[in-house]
Amino acid sequence: LGDGPLKGRHVIVTSGPTHEPIDPVRYIANRSSGAQGTALAAALRDLGARVSFVTGPASVPPPQGVSVIPVETAAEMLAAVKAALPAEAAVFAAAVADWRVANASGSKMKKDGSGKAPALEFAENPDILATVSQMKAGRPALVVGFAAETDDVVAHATAKRKRKGCDWIVANDVRPATGIMGGAENAVTVIDATGAEDWPRLSKDEVARRLAARIAAALGRVVEV
Ligand code: C5P
Repeated sequence: LGDGPLKGRHVIVTSGPTHEPIDPVRYIANRSSGAQGTALAAALRDLGARVSFVTGPASVPPPQGVSVIPVETAAEMLAAVKAALPAEAAVFAAAVADWRVANASGSKMKKDGSGKAPALEFAENPDILATVSQMKAGRPALVVGFAAETDDVVAHATAKRKRKGCDWIVANDVRPATGIMGGAENAVTVIDATGAEDWPRLSKDEVARRLAARIAAALGRVVEV
């Protein structure tokens, strides 16, 4: 472990998409690459943190020097986060599926020749960020969420911060024209209880380094008892 300002601190990072099965060979997913969460885990590691990296099936490899906990579904991600607690900070960068398939089939679905398509039913997934933010006991001192928005970024993200109960929301504009989702750069607004801070467009690695430094500064202000 490193010797930086986060030495001895445990930080949980979620990252990547989740896969929600339809049947044993098919699933519903999203376009998250896991790049920002992976960069963040590496940056926290570089500041000396012990990082539990709970990752869905991402398209970039996990960083070295962190504890990798691979999961597929949102339900597995929540269970893995709970098992990794306690932590001083938790950062939820994963693109968690809002819904899972409620009538997933235990065997591969087949065409039956009738020409009728199957109907999928959905059930809402647990909100991992809200669950951890609202924990009565054992809540991490600092809980950070992300908000991928396509319009009214700051207004929506500010409302999201309050609704979920996290300390910070890192908001970004994921309209396709920005090239952010799946790209190497990010332009974020960091929202906390005191207001919104616009950061310039930076590489995801640089966003990660600045966020890790902000996390270290915030935890430095947490009084140990
Ligand atoms: O509500 P929305 O999906 O926009 O919230 C995004 C934030 O909430 C991200 O930090 C994401 O990791 C987290 N989240 C979660 N569990 C869910 C949905 C979102 O932790 N089921």
